[in-house]
Amino acid sequence: MDRFLIDGGRPLEGRVTIGGAKNAALPAMAAALLTDKRVVLHNIPRVRDILTMRSLLDEMGADSALKHEREGNRLVIQARKIPDQTAPYELVKQMRASVLVLGPLVARFGHARVSLPGGCAIGARPINLHLKGLEKLGATVSIEHGYVEARVDRLMAGQIHFDSVTVTGTENIMMAAALADGTTLLENCAIEPEVEDLAALLLKMGADIEGAGTSAIRIRGVGRLHGAEHTVIPDRIEAGTFLVGAAITGGHLVLDRIEPRNLTAVVAKLAEAGVEINVVETASDSTQSHALEVRGRPPYRAADVVTQEYPGFPTDMQAQYMALATQAAGSSVITETIFENRFLHALELARMGADIAVDGRRAVVRGPVRLSGANVQASDLRASASLVLAGLAAEGESLVDRVYHIDRGYERIEEKLTRVGAKIRRISES
Ligand code: EPU
Repeated sequence: MDRFLIDGGRPLEGRVTIGGAKNAALPAMAAALLTDKRVVLHNIPRVRDILTMRSLLDEMGADSALKHEREGNRLVIQARKIPDQTAPYELVKQMRASVLVLGPLVARFGHARVSLPGGCAIGARPINLHLKGLEKLGATVSIEHGYVEARVDRLMAGQIHFDSVTVTGTENIMMAAALADGTTLLENCAIEPEVEDLAALLLKMGADIEGAGTSAIRIRGVGRLHGAEHTVIPDRIEAGTFLVGAAITGGHLVLDRIEPRNLTAVVAKLAEAGVEINVVETASDSTQSHALEVRGRPPYRAADVVTQEYPGFPTDMQAQYMALATQAAGSSVITETIFENRFLHALELARMGADIAVDGRRAVVRGPVRLSGANVQASDLRASASLVLAGLAAEGESLVDRVYHIDRGYERIEEKLTRVGAKIRRISES
């Protein structure tokens, strides 16, 4: 297992190019199962979850070719035949987003067998709403030997009101309904930019979808979908993580290739705490060439955060914000409303000197404190980002263990950080 050795206390200075959004790329890859034609995806980040999804598609019988180039990061997927419509436990346990293949498989082949994802460090994360949605579209769903087995002759349109907002649930059912017979209405949908980006790809593939990016989506099913080419949106969470990186180290960064509209809650909260952030460039024609300039001058002001569905403050930025809150004067109250156990980083941050009291879904961070380097352990993807950020700001050396978590969702983060002045080194077991 790899670890990061960080010698903290150096401001981050320079430019960082933000990669494509992992959480937009994963559903886009699953969508390629909806057609036997080629789907070409650009701006695919070089992260482990993408490789896991690729293994899953290839294992089922798809052909994929991944080329990481200076420009492009292109992935071509062609799911001509999928002889085995099974997502095995070995892959699903590595990545819960594997469940995104369920909707496309049932829609195109009338059958899917997908391992139930087990427990997760950050919460129970059931998939009952995905299954309920598929049943509403006429599929027969059963659970056998730890696998979800879904069958149908052809999916029929339905009216589905999600009991609560679910991102991948919305995506799964939207993909399924794209090939269903009739017009499906989805209500109480997730309005995350990643859902809208998936709909943009599906439209290019010939789907008939209205309202993605709002809470009501209407999908008129079509007989078949065709190939398409699509560039996934920039990763708003990677961007947010680097914003905190500049802030917490008192640095100055320009983040290239971002979409500021998708970052408004994060930028507003950081600004409230006293971080200076400006949009410095706008593109002539492409939204992806916006840049954000961030200047950090700690200490900051305490500012409370409540995680919410988009457009609220994202749960995927909560851990990173907690690291920053240790450098703010006063008490910052952080309330996590999306996942029931997403504070595992708090105890690790405390080992670096943070003053954090956790009570259920609320954490109170008192600052500013002087962080000091320590050995800490990552528990999940965003928690590991938080520990790296704290390590960058801390005095002395930190050793962050289990960085495979961070590799799931950040593209070579130690290289990107090194280029902007951090002293961070990967130590491989081998
Ligand atoms: N939920 C249910 N039943 C369901 C589905 C969800 O009760 O059938 C609950 C969950 O347990 C959770 C809440 O609803 O309490 C929201 O979960 P959601 O389904 O929206 O999460 P997700 O789709 O599994 C995606 C991202 C996560 C991100 C969440 C919330 C992908 C691949 N993953 O997960 O990303 O935290 O939405 O925004 O899009 C990450 O990148 O680190 C990450 C965890």
